[in-house]
Amino acid sequence: MKYSTLVQAAKKAKRYSYAPYSNFRVGAAVLTKSGKIYTGCNIENSSYSLTICAERTALFKALSESRPTFTALAITSDSDELIPPCGACRQVIMDLAGDIDIILTSNDGAMKIMKSSELLPLPFTKYALRKFPRKT
Ligand code: THU
Repeated sequence: MKYSTLVQAAKKAKRYSYAPYSNFRVGAAVLTKSGKIYTGCNIENSSYSLTICAERTALFKALSESRPTFTALAITSDSDELIPPCGACRQVIMDLAGDIDIILTSNDGAMKIMKSSELLPLPFTKYALRKFPRKT
């Protein structure tokens, strides 16, 4: 599977990164089974912990307007190192998108494809909550 279009979309999304505190711009793009691409960037906040990562922006944008099956997510930054998703994003990716391809990229053109399950083994998911059905 070639992911160059998805990576290009993630790079384009990086242009809107709002990162005045870290200056670390990130762009992400998530691909659906039907071929649709949703993009996102990191958006920082002066109350630092309220920052949202590019991966979650992309996924939340997608889910706020559709219920797609996701197949892949690409991550781009300005770094010459491969940038993996942070721990919080690994949880959200696994929970909302499942075991998809995660395309890590570096700004100098390197690319590595990993599965969400490699990045987050033993995930906490909705299946853990099955024993606790709603009482209402
Ligand atoms: N960031 C992302 O957008 N995605 C990641 O997977 C790693 C970190 C952002 C959050 C923050 O705006 C900046 O990068 C530095 O941590």
